[in-house]
Amino acid sequence: MSLIHILWGSQSGNAQNLAQVIGDSLIDHFPVEVIDMGELDPEGIQEIKNLIIVTSTYGDGEAPDNASEWLSFVKFAEDLDLSHLNYAVIGLGDTYYPHFCQAGKDFDQYLSKHGAHAMLKRLDCDLYYEEQYPEWVEELKSVLKSHFPD
Ligand SMILES: Cc1cc2nc3c(=O)[nH]c(=O)nc-3n(C[C@H](O)[C@H](O)[C@H](O)COP(=O)(O)O)c2cc1C
Repeated sequence: MSLIHILWGSQSGNAQNLAQVIGDSLIDHFPVEVIDMGELDPEGIQEIKNLIIVTSTYGDGEAPDNASEWLSFVKFAEDLDLSHLNYAVIGLGDTYYPHFCQAGKDFDQYLSKHGAHAMLKRLDCDLYYEEQYPEWVEELKSVLKSHFPD
């Protein structure tokens, strides 16, 4: 099966750590790479088949600095066909802010708009994300196993 790319957008480390935890929990079953979004040209999305996005939200509902180029790309690209792409998004945020988990919501919206297929429902986590993500990761694992039985 093709590689699963886990891309993280993070300002102060939470989403980065979570991306690594998710990678560690998948690695026994699937080929996985955990990547800083700021280190990968967004045009590279054309070569990716399975994408997990782990991102926090900053500012007034904006993406973290290292994810802003990716978010702009999927937001403004015209004629972008992502029908080859399976994806899942987990957002980290804080319900205190009016634009709760907006960066994760935006990624979900724009990937889907360009024809990518959501493998499971996006999870928007608040500050208690460590209690919230394990169930989502288990669901992700079973979805991936059913997509890639070998
Ligand atoms: C200055 C600042 C702005 C923030 N803005 C938002 C926001 O607009 N929406 C939201 O849901 N969370 C917001 N947060 C909360 C962060 O997304 C949350 O703390 C997250 O866990 C940080 O993850 P990170 O360490 O990966 O960047 C903000 C936090 C800070 C410090």
